[in-house]
Amino acid sequence: TKPVYILAIETSCDETSVAIIENGTIIRSNKISSQIDTHQRFGGVVPEVASRKHVESITRMLEQAVDEAGVSLHELSAIAVTEGPGLIGALLVGVVAGKALASALGLPLIGVHHIAGHIYANQLVHELVYPCLSLVVSGGHTELVLLEGPGSFKIIGRTRDDAAGEAYDKVARAMGLPYPGGPHVDRLAQEADTEVKLPRSWLEADSYDFSFSGLKSAVLNVVNQSKMRGETVQVAQIAKGFQASVIDVLVEKASRAVRAYGAKQLLLAGGVAANKGLRSALAVRCEELGVPLLVPPHSLCTDNAAMIGAAAFLKWERGEFDTMELKAEAQLDL
Ligand code: KG4
Ligand code: ZN
Repeated sequence: TKPVYILAIETSCDETSVAIIENGTIIRSNKISSQIDTHQRFGGVVPEVASRKHVESITRMLEQAVDEAGVSLHELSAIAVTEGPGLIGALLVGVVAGKALASALGLPLIGVHHIAGHIYANQLVHELVYPCLSLVVSGGHTELVLLEGPGSFKIIGRTRDDAAGEAYDKVARAMGLPYPGGPHVDRLAQEADTEVKLPRSWLEADSYDFSFSGLKSAVLNVVNQSKMRGETVQVAQIAKGFQASVIDVLVEKASRAVRAYGAKQLLLAGGVAANKGLRSALAVRCEELGVPLLVPPHSLCTDNAAMIGAAAFLKWERGEFDTMELKAEAQLDL
């Protein structure tokens, strides 16, 4: 049988990415143009700038993805695009490009939820066994998602305030580290010998929800107190204490959910999945639980179009297509 080639587009935040995925699992190409350098001097993503950069990069990414895949446009089976959630102006660039391609080539259009993409990045490297549980930790999301079958998502816990990655970035910024701060905090935490003790936010005993704003405030207090006293800020020790608090809560709640729902695998997803401390702590816990931990390689953890193509394949199999009415949505339920 003929392979299914899906051309996928991702522009929800600050990466312009186009990929071609074969049968939902094989990456034929995955081109990513990151805007991090541009946003770095503002200390965060500036939505207007992001949209403009997407417009500048999208055609080049499309051309490169098609070239590298060695698949002609006539062999494509569908066009997939992230419809939300994300920055509205950024999403719009991808959605408009996706619609234009689908209509010019007479192909079905598939809108994909960004988080479904992060979760299904795992399918590019592993075979999924259901029911499985996904811990989604990114700059915009912190969720525990139960997958009872392919494409069936049930959110059993979520952050009530900041996302984990957002907390990393804000804490890093307060300590004078560059954007995005997650990787810097991670590195400093590995280097430090001692840690500043910081609180853990467990919420109600039976809750799978998260909260990181209290922890963030605790870090800001420590930083400000050091500055007021004219002492040097113990950046590495604070990073270690912060990371320990985040990881303790993520690992504990994820493993409790694995047991409660009889999950056969734990899938780590999102940009914070790149965190070395989180990966190793989860690996140890999963070993104890006797449940495999699935983690995509670093390049598939942060935003990319390959993961969107992987998630789109599930919809392709079921014939779940969108019309030209498909809209970019800043807020969108999974
Ligand atoms: O998934 P992603 O690329 O974008 C969103 O959809 O949000 O995630 C980006 C987030 C940023 O907050 C970044 O600081 C964080 O992932 N991140 C990390 C690490 N690498 C990236 N956080 C902690 N440790 C890391 N090693
Ligand atoms: Zn993301």
